Amino acid sequence: MKLIEAMKDRRSIHDFRKELVDEATLEEIFRLASWAPNHRLKEPWEVMLFQNDAARDYAELVIESYIKEGFAAGYDSVKTNKMMQGIKQFMIDIPHHALIYMEHDTDFHKFEEDYAAVCAFIQNAQLAAWEKGVGVLWTTSPYIHDHDFIEGIGLDPVYHKVAGVLQMGYPARVPRPKPRSPVDVTFRNDSFNKKI
Ligand SMILES: Cc1cc2nc3c(=O)[nH]c(=O)nc-3n(C[C@H](O)[C@H](O)[C@H](O)COP(=O)(O)O)c2cc1C
Repeated sequence: MKLIEAMKDRRSIHDFRKELVDEATLEEIFRLASWAPNHRLKEPWEVMLFQNDAARDYAELVIESYIKEGFAAGYDSVKTNKMMQGIKQFMIDIPHHALIYMEHDTDFHKFEEDYAAVCAFIQNAQLAAWEKGVGVLWTTSPYIHDHDFIEGIGLDPVYHKVAGVLQMGYPARVPRPKPRSPVDVTFRNDSFNKKI
């Protein structure tokens, strides 16, 4: 597949088939993703994949977080319960939840560099997956900042930042392309520093 074609044709996938992607393919996707640029070759990315029974527990933690954050505020308990069961089933039906996290460097500049590298890693993973017929939705829902959620999955909210969660699986439906707007590039050729 040509690089530019892949960049343009890849789509965020919202509907997945039920079957799991085999673990070797998933591992290869993330191995390929690790060719992302990263300063000081820190390779700051970590991947934790939730599937099968672990996806159920994961969905449970997400629901707890949503309720705690007031997602269901204003609804009665019956409605809340129904809504949360719907969200839970929706999440369980997603074959894989790949949580991408990193250590939280206390130096802000290094933290930003690491986060940028992790985002490059994620986009590489999306493209590698696309070439293998695996669909991805990059998500950053508020629960990724919830300390109880982070502890619930076995990480330490002081040392770890969850950069995002990739929902993954074989696409049941590929959305239509969403055309992008032209990018204004400002070219500057004339000297502007009057002191020189
Ligand atoms: C950092 C980030 C977070 C995103 N979070 C979500 C999300 O929570 N839910 C969602 O449906 N899409 C999410 N997306 C995907 C965008 O909605 C998607 O990329 C955009 O609609 C363009 O569609 P395309 O990727 O198919 O070109 C996210 C994308 C990025 C880069």
